[in-house]
Amino acid sequence: MCGIVGYIGHREAYPVVLNGLKRLEYRGYDSAGIAIYDGSNLKFSKTKGKVADLQLKMESEINTSGTIGIGHTRWATHGVPNDVNSHPHFSNSGELVIIHNGIIENYDPLKKELIKRGYTFKSDTDTEVLVNLIEDVQKKEGVKLGKAVQIALNQTIGAYAIAVFDKKKPDEIVVARLGSPLAIGVGENEFFIASDASPFLEFTKEAIYLEDGEMAVIRTHKEIKIRKIHDDSLVDPYVQELQMNLEQIEKGGYEHFMLKEIYEQPDAIRDTFRGRMLVNEGIIRMAGVDDNIDKFLNAKRIIIVACGTSWHAGLVAEYIFEELARVPVEVEYASEFRYRNPVIDKDDVVIAISQSGETADTMAAIKMAKEQGAFVFGVCNVVGSSISRETHAGAYTHAGPEIGVASTKAFTTQITVLTLMALQLAKRKGKISTSDFHKYLVELESIPNKVTLALKSNEHIEEVAAIYKNTKNCLYLGRGFNFPVALEGALKLKEISYIHAEGYPAAEMKHGPIALIDEEMPVVVIATKKGHYEKVVSNIQEIKSRSGKIIGIVTEGDVDVRDLADHVIEVPETIEFLTPLLTTIPLQLLSYHIAVMLGKNVDQPRNLAKSVTVE
Ligand code: F6R
Repeated sequence: MCGIVGYIGHREAYPVVLNGLKRLEYRGYDSAGIAIYDGSNLKFSKTKGKVADLQLKMESEINTSGTIGIGHTRWATHGVPNDVNSHPHFSNSGELVIIHNGIIENYDPLKKELIKRGYTFKSDTDTEVLVNLIEDVQKKEGVKLGKAVQIALNQTIGAYAIAVFDKKKPDEIVVARLGSPLAIGVGENEFFIASDASPFLEFTKEAIYLEDGEMAVIRTHKEIKIRKIHDDSLVDPYVQELQMNLEQIEKGGYEHFMLKEIYEQPDAIRDTFRGRMLVNEGIIRMAGVDDNIDKFLNAKRIIIVACGTSWHAGLVAEYIFEELARVPVEVEYASEFRYRNPVIDKDDVVIAISQSGETADTMAAIKMAKEQGAFVFGVCNVVGSSISRETHAGAYTHAGPEIGVASTKAFTTQITVLTLMALQLAKRKGKISTSDFHKYLVELESIPNKVTLALKSNEHIEEVAAIYKNTKNCLYLGRGFNFPVALEGALKLKEISYIHAEGYPAAEMKHGPIALIDEEMPVVVIATKKGHYEKVVSNIQEIKSRSGKIIGIVTEGDVDVRDLADHVIEVPETIEFLTPLLTTIPLQLLSYHIAVMLGKNVDQPRNLAKSVTVE
């Protein structure tokens, strides 16, 4: 969702802020803006549309020089996407300039109060209310900017990551966070501010991640002062060494991040099990699980909470945990779980899955489960993210930065981590034999090479995509371990090509969706040799006899489905519970090619955000 970038120091701020915004485009946005200050003149531009539109506007209209600057990509919540509602926003005096990611929920009463006090508003945003509230506090209390921000934030309800400066103090930026991420890059007499570290990677590898409820006053030539917003206590800055490098966040010769990330899956899966799965020794080592093994062994059930693609990974994990470790698993949409009154026992283990580690609903579900005494384990990709810090223990997926909005490598690496966990638990519970355990490790180790083989069908998949690119609807069917893959395949097509798609368990066809089948309806059927193969073949026959078009995802060498289907795409053979790691690949590529052929913005699909920090 919204992205924020800021710079204060000795460089020209504009290129730093502009390139930073480009790096944050993946978060999803509908408008953008930048303000640069040179100590006497404030130059700013805001526009609905892309950062490239902003750049054109900014560079054609104004001189951009100045060493303090802030920029923003906005994903509209309060107020439609337009130039006026774009950030930065200014206080009535024009002295304070702010950018904000999040939602001030009580903005309406605050706004009414400010209007009574003579303030006027140009935009419909909650952010303009906040900047005027800060100005009002400054005036009423006669305090410095930092204090005014603190007092104002203590009057708000909601979520925020903000950066604000006062034209009267051009050597200072004040930042604060609650519920939305904020990283500070620490350079030599210069500081960078951003929603994540990617905008400042080429300038510094040292970063401070503000914790929820913290604010910082950042001054050039001075150290950073961090304090708790609520009680004013000082916090020692904890400077981390960043592990990310620039290459990881660039396209590296691929046309889109999504394609790069699809192709990175063999390495990403390998990185995820590296050091954890010691095949020769026949062991799995996962500190987060091993250190809390009693919690897992005593768990009467596992509850998995997640959203979107991560929820699909949770569904695959349900099948794997129940199959291998024989423990009951429930998989919940975090957004539903948090708002109903779920029964959570202190002996439940809750696993929260999130690529970004920032998803607001998943975060709220975690907090609720913790309050009710459950042990909460996080499976996140982004190191140091809010969810990874909020959970009792966890395991990272090590997929590397995922920039394309549509999740690809995050999904397969989540399944990899969850498979390792299920195997470890199954072994510790004595539910699988040592020889099976070893056999499974060997097979899991071979998966990256098999993914590479699956990727070799790319050209054939592109041909299939060309045939179906103009379809209006598409059905995806799978059974057992591959039912969640059908859901995931449909989600991928929907989100990047805007074609309506549904995923279904194949056997449910007869209970309704079969009515949709005619010669216009492509049906993607996952029909690998293992797992209800004959039953899926019967389902294919049912579709065929109603003139549906069949795209079969089959095991290498398959003949039965080949005879029935209009097209088949092969994946290598593997043991049944590992098939999702392979069957997912052609579905990702199919959606990708269709979206490219339709001219859609593959990496930044409309209306979507990479990190959903509002509920
Ligand atoms: C789909 C997609 C989303 C995310 C969902 C959860 O391709 O990316 O459905 O999976 O928003 O996000 P995380 O995993 O960051 O919690």
